[in-house]
Amino acid sequence: MDPMDGGMRYTPGSSDKDWDTAVTFLPASDNKKLEKKRGPGRVGIIVGLVILAAVLALIIGLLVWHFHFRKDLKLQKIYIGSLRITNEVFVDAYENPESAEYKNLADKVKDQLKSMYSEAPELSKYYMGSKVQAFSEGSVIAYYESEFAVPMGQEAAVDRAVNRLTEAYSSKIRRVQQGPLVFDHVATSALDTRLFSKARTNLRFAQHTRSSAEETIKSPGFPDQPYTPNSFVQWQLRGDPGHVLKLSFDTFYLENNCSNDFVRVYDSLVAMDEHLMAEKCGFYSPSNPLTFISSSNVMLVTFVTNDNGNFPGFRAGVTQIPRDSPDLACGGKLSGGFGNFNSPNFPSYYPPRKTCQWDIEVPTGKFIKLKFPKFMVSTGSPNCPGDRVQIADKSPLCGQQPANTMVTVSSNQVSVVFKSDSSQVDRGFSGTFETFEPSDPCPDQFQCDNKRCVKPSLRCDGWNDCGDSTDEKNCQCDVSMIQCKNGFCKPMFWRCDGVNDCGDNTDEFNCGCKTGEFKCKNDQCVSEKLKCDGKNDCKDGSDEEGCGREICKASTFACSNGKCITKQNPVCDGQDDCGDKSDESNCDCGKKAFSASRIVGGQDADVGEFPWQVSLHIKNTAHVCGASIISDRWLVTAAHCVQDDPKIKYAQPGTWEAYLGLHKQKEKLQATKRFLKQIIPHPYYNPYTYDNDIALMELDLPVTFSRTIQTICLPTSTDVFPTGESVTISGWGATREGGAGAAVLQKANVRIINGTVCNELMGGQITSRMTCAGVLSGGVDACQGDSGGPMSYLTNGRMYLAGVVSWGDGCARRNKPGIYTNVPKFRAWIKEKTGV
Ligand code: ARG
Repeated sequence: MDPMDGGMRYTPGSSDKDWDTAVTFLPASDNKKLEKKRGPGRVGIIVGLVILAAVLALIIGLLVWHFHFRKDLKLQKIYIGSLRITNEVFVDAYENPESAEYKNLADKVKDQLKSMYSEAPELSKYYMGSKVQAFSEGSVIAYYESEFAVPMGQEAAVDRAVNRLTEAYSSKIRRVQQGPLVFDHVATSALDTRLFSKARTNLRFAQHTRSSAEETIKSPGFPDQPYTPNSFVQWQLRGDPGHVLKLSFDTFYLENNCSNDFVRVYDSLVAMDEHLMAEKCGFYSPSNPLTFISSSNVMLVTFVTNDNGNFPGFRAGVTQIPRDSPDLACGGKLSGGFGNFNSPNFPSYYPPRKTCQWDIEVPTGKFIKLKFPKFMVSTGSPNCPGDRVQIADKSPLCGQQPANTMVTVSSNQVSVVFKSDSSQVDRGFSGTFETFEPSDPCPDQFQCDNKRCVKPSLRCDGWNDCGDSTDEKNCQCDVSMIQCKNGFCKPMFWRCDGVNDCGDNTDEFNCGCKTGEFKCKNDQCVSEKLKCDGKNDCKDGSDEEGCGREICKASTFACSNGKCITKQNPVCDGQDDCGDKSDESNCDCGKKAFSASRIVGGQDADVGEFPWQVSLHIKNTAHVCGASIISDRWLVTAAHCVQDDPKIKYAQPGTWEAYLGLHKQKEKLQATKRFLKQIIPHPYYNPYTYDNDIALMELDLPVTFSRTIQTICLPTSTDVFPTGESVTISGWGATREGGAGAAVLQKANVRIINGTVCNELMGGQITSRMTCAGVLSGGVDACQGDSGGPMSYLTNGRMYLAGVVSWGDGCARRNKPGIYTNVPKFRAWIKEKTGV
């Protein structure tokens, strides 16, 4: 399982306020006083009139104030900026605001700013003064804050004037000599109002990292307490000249909404938007490293929290790296038939203001194919005004590109230039290059219109493997395929399966049914065994007609007494909806043996927290997949876990051993071991697309339930798990993409993601038999080895098997949710095969 969410959250205390219970009641009125009194009289009328006149005067006064004087109300506006002084040399004393040297230079800077603002009348009028906040090397950079008292309505004009002035000073590549300072660069930006701290806790730290030493910064209270509300904390970080700083978070867990709590990292000593490298909130796992590198020897970290939220916080190490260190180097000459290259600090954030150039040369006569397995280069907009990758003279690449984005070059040489600007860094890219024959760009493969090459066997197989569907166009469908009216070919076994696979439903026309199947009135086929079982399996009730009981059309549950229930999730909700308790029978599922009462400090699950979780091992070897217990004899897992490969007969029951009640992999001797009697993969499982990725396993001997061995409830076929709902995934899978499995059972919370959105994110590979869940910002997901395990959904105090871990694009990548088998779709099949 990739990084976790569930475990580390501090459980906030009860939301009930300690209301003051000592309420004093007013004494009961004396009844007599309530008796009718005489009318108001003349004095009363006069008093009334006087009050009325006073109220009118007040209203008029307020109106006059609003329209006439209010424009004189002034707003405090703070700009923050830096100035590069070229005729001064940095001395250590400039780091100490108390030194005479610091004060002296600060005074000169203030004079300089005053004279600069005097050039714009809009500014000189409202200028209140400046404070120098720090100096750093280069020759000397002064960081300052300038304050203006701006009349209401003038804010935009002042903003414009500041921008104009800044532009004039920084774009004219000229040295400006005004007074004693010569300076050649000015940058200014308005201070984000969220950094004006109304905060109760306001802390400012300055730290200088010396060679090789690592300093640590952490949120207040970390790791013993959740961070404090209403805080503003900033760390001004410095290194020695000739170095850059590296900030590495080993823990990062904030509230998920960045407009409440956030950490910002600046490539500057002051909070200027122009140098904002990143704003972060939410959770980042240590296995998904969050590290930042500055472009010079300074960095600023700010941490802002609002009035609520109860999260652990963060801790980060700060080290300095010599600017010429090979760790920071990038670019160079690459040659040969293939190779790779990546952005600096990949897979963590690249530094700002960096340029790397790779000159690639392959043998003469060959052309070059560049592939980017990962590509995240700041925000993408059409012509990439910020960070970008420029390949020869093609249009630049930026933003997030799909995995394995490909660029072909019709030459044996190409230059690839990566350039980051001064703000908003990202995780960068990994790239590879290889050669191809100009006359044969896709040797032995099919070339898509978008230049991708796909295996010839993928052509006309019913799946969009190219990404632009060109592999599915102009298809002559062979006999094993359905010819859809819209020109696509789809595998024959999808015909009449009740799912519109063609897109135009032609695969569901004129459907007869196989032997052992019953044809519903809506042409769907369901197993004969489901006829008259009291459930609306056909969805139109036709499988329950003529059974001597009421047909439960459009209902969610058919009671044993024939009553039909329409409320959502009526089963095992503690209420006797049927009147004969048939909706409440067999409800010994989905309950944790005991609930964890303590604050969970890590990402490990508690013992007994997922008593339905099973670890499937290849006999005498190791964990391979997960599974869930649905009865004392049956497990549910993923069909892809039980597919033979050339080396291992995964489809054979004899290959496996199942561990139930296991917590730590190395404690398997204490767990309950079972062998398998049979494995039933779903007959429509598609190994190319992972459609219908579900399988059943029958144990050789039934198990006895205990504190750590329990069943999970199965959802009914009509259950829906709404988008945005939180679900829990668990398993011993890898804790990072490409990493090793976990020793202790892991858990994480993810959210259900809308199917249409997910289908777009996953390149059109999502079917109705799949459910997507994840955290789109990345960092939390299932991963290799979690397959077959449960996605558990809590409702009515019980856990239901909403999904089975199936597949994903890498693990925990941004905008790549995890894909789970949609269990409600298989409820009837499970019942048919297992009786559960
Ligand atoms: N297929 C993987 C397995 O065998 C599980 C993949 C889940 N991946 C994901 N990113 N959610 O373990």
